[in-house]
Amino acid sequence: MSSRPRVLVTGGAGYIGSHAAVALHKAGFMPVLLDNLSNANRTAVEGVRQLCDEPDLPFHEVDVQDASGLREVFEYHQKFGHAIAGILHFAAFKAVGESVAQPARYAANNVGGLGTLLDVADAFNVRNVVFSSSCTVYGEPETVPVDESTPFQDAESPYGWTKQACERVLTDHAATHPDHRIALLRYFNPIGAHPSARIGEWPLGVPNNLVPFLTQTVAGMRESLTVFGGDYPTPDGTCIRDYLHVMDLAEAHVAALRWCMDTQSKGPVVRAFNLGTGQGASVLEVIQGFERATGLAVPHHIGPRREGDVVAIWANPDRAKTELNWVASRDLETCLADAWRWQERLKKG
Ligand code: WQD
Repeated sequence: MSSRPRVLVTGGAGYIGSHAAVALHKAGFMPVLLDNLSNANRTAVEGVRQLCDEPDLPFHEVDVQDASGLREVFEYHQKFGHAIAGILHFAAFKAVGESVAQPARYAANNVGGLGTLLDVADAFNVRNVVFSSSCTVYGEPETVPVDESTPFQDAESPYGWTKQACERVLTDHAATHPDHRIALLRYFNPIGAHPSARIGEWPLGVPNNLVPFLTQTVAGMRESLTVFGGDYPTPDGTCIRDYLHVMDLAEAHVAALRWCMDTQSKGPVVRAFNLGTGQGASVLEVIQGFERATGLAVPHHIGPRREGDVVAIWANPDRAKTELNWVASRDLETCLADAWRWQERLKKG
């Protein structure tokens, strides 16, 4: 197996994790995928292997709450002289609505799983951790765009609370591990898919998120897209978000891992970074952007507001630009064209 530094990608068969694995490999690392496949498709592992041209790229079907299973993974790679050099931690439940129904399960998996992972990583002296956080930690911000010093409001859901709690766990962990480096990546709204359409988002069941529901509607799988609320205090009455391409987001993880490795013994031990374009787009603007990008109409109608939705949030991404040398480079129509290409691939099976 190659001499590339190995990086554990928990949730590596998932939407963001699989794209980050491809970006890691392109940057000279060897991703080691770990996933319990509770919300991911094994096909994604094969897609990553194909895109990396690594038929034997490591994959471990392990749950992050399983300490002995995690230890076996770290031992396996250490035994073959390829100790894990860093961790990208994606493995978590992420459905806002589901978290309201199952708060204890979300706490155990998202926060408990992080604690288990950190304990095992400590035992193997892994000192670089990149954590998948979310703009949801901000709640409903008083002003936009938000920067990393924007105070957290009360979380809008148990899911959002788990992300706030995980950031606190990692911050406390950093206080007692000065030789570690921890990047907290606050995603805004990742959309789209790898342009090859070999990997993408596999929403199980009815999608909660806007873009997969939109593409399934255009593909004829859903009758009409409901726009959740048309009477918000925004220019066109619909909610505003900061949508970024999943490949831009994936590349930000490589930049953050390099930040961890390059700042050992200097600078802050733990650092939050907003990952967004810095541009807001409304729901109707996403629909119009899709129609421009593909020439296809999106059957949609305005419906009632969705409980817990934030009216408007978008990023101030300046810190990632200056400290990670990262900028989201793909525009909204590219995101939506790639999302549609992936949907067409799914339809073909
Ligand atoms: C975006 C906008 C909806 C569906 C959540 C999490 C966030 C991240 C992404 C995990 C909103 C509107 C949606 C639909 C609609 N999850 N919408 N009709 O809620 O901004 O973020 O998912 O990491 O942490 O909080 O994303 O795509 O669900 O909604 O009108 O059928 O689209 O009201 O304004 P959201 P979303």
